[in-house]
Amino acid sequence: MKKAQGYQSISIPDHRLDEFFQVVQWAFVGEWLKEDRQDYVDALPTERARALEVNDDLRGEVGELAAVHASFGTEMITPGGRRVPTAGLSWLGVHPAHRRRGLMTAMMRDHFQRCIDRGEAVSALYAMEAEIYSRFGYGMASQTVKASIPRGSTMWPVDGVDDLTIRLERADFDKHDQLVADLQAKLTRPATIINPVGSGRNARFTDPVGNRHGYERWRIAIVEDRGEPVAYAFFRRKADSEIGIHDGVCQVREHGALTPAASQKLWQTLLDFDLVGTTHTENLALDDPLLHQLKDARGARSKVIDNLWVRLLDVKTALESREYFHDCDVTVSLTDKHVPANAGVWRIVVSGPDATVTKVSDDPTAAADLSMDARHLSTIYLGGTSVESLAAAGLIAEHTAGQARELAVAMLSPVAPLTNWDF
Ligand SMILES: CC(C)(COP(=O)(O)OP(=O)(O)OC[C@H]1O[C@@H](n2cnc3c(N)ncnc32)[C@H](O)[C@@H]1OP(=O)(O)O)[C@@H](O)C(=O)NCCC(=O)NCCS
Repeated sequence: MKKAQGYQSISIPDHRLDEFFQVVQWAFVGEWLKEDRQDYVDALPTERARALEVNDDLRGEVGELAAVHASFGTEMITPGGRRVPTAGLSWLGVHPAHRRRGLMTAMMRDHFQRCIDRGEAVSALYAMEAEIYSRFGYGMASQTVKASIPRGSTMWPVDGVDDLTIRLERADFDKHDQLVADLQAKLTRPATIINPVGSGRNARFTDPVGNRHGYERWRIAIVEDRGEPVAYAFFRRKADSEIGIHDGVCQVREHGALTPAASQKLWQTLLDFDLVGTTHTENLALDDPLLHQLKDARGARSKVIDNLWVRLLDVKTALESREYFHDCDVTVSLTDKHVPANAGVWRIVVSGPDATVTKVSDDPTAAADLSMDARHLSTIYLGGTSVESLAAAGLIAEHTAGQARELAVAMLSPVAPLTNWDF
């Protein structure tokens, strides 16, 4: 493993934010507009912004930033509607002049240690490229359906839709942040990321002009049941036309609904804007009510991609912070290159909805019913992927017949996991 020699880890004070942003623009390929600066400041959890700074002139100009990352503290919903303390990792980028010198590896170590010190049992992220994070123990814990749905798609009727009302407004932090946070807090879908704590204005409300690409500003649809919000969605539209035929698009970002009727009311609106031919969304769970309510689900022209990547940093706390759906008593030998305290043999005893998780050996080669790497335990953690399917893929080894199924049935979630906003 490469060592990031000639660099030191630092926190970023406010007066160095522009240097931080320069590295981000180099890494993620793009020039931001000057007028968008405040949006990026608002989106960044500045108190947890970190960087690697050159401290050896063989590596560059001493004092310049070579790599950056940041994370926010939050809670994530786990199967059964419980919560686990989580760090949302984001903004990770290395200046192209400093790539392949182990800087990302050094930042991941820095991130893991600081999370562990703060008591965050899980790290979670959205990946720009799916291949990068597995080597650090992240597993693809949820998947999402990207869909392009034609205007006017019809749905199977659901009781109560006509009793609901809908408001359409420009998304505004001061007006809507608490409303969205309150709705988020009522969702029970695993992988839901609760509003980040301690990071000032919420990133989901940022709207840089440079990211609009001809779209209007982000809007919000709020479904109400006698004045009480029961669903919301961020959306924006773009006009388009060819030979006089209007064929605009609507893009739906995060959304959430508390009831079947609220979901249907929301999508009836989002799928029926005048001058809009198609509505695109990237945030549908594999079992989103919309996919069942649409009469022609195939017409939603969809594909499935990775959603949230999860990394267990404290196996015991993480596994005990979720619900289980079948009793079992299984031992798992776990390898973990980056978090040695996780490595060893763990006994998972489930009785009713709760698990008691105990380390029975520090030796990951000791005998156990199943053996796997931390990234596979992270993949199955939110119940979206079965232990048995990873065993069938040759990624988890079963040493005691039937135990992969035992743990699979205990851990599989009746509700598909999904994080509904992209951080
Ligand atoms: C991806 C990126 C963070 C890697 O940084 P880096 O400092 O060059 O990475 P390291 O030198 O620490 O390499 C870490 C390991 O990941 C591998 N790796 C690096 N970039 C990779 C990529 N794009 N795809 C697959 N593997 C990659 C390296 O080969 C290395 O493997 P090894 O440990 O087996 O040798 C950097 O190239 C970058 O900032 N890219 C643009 C922005 C981005 O993609 N950010 C991350 C996604 S959110």
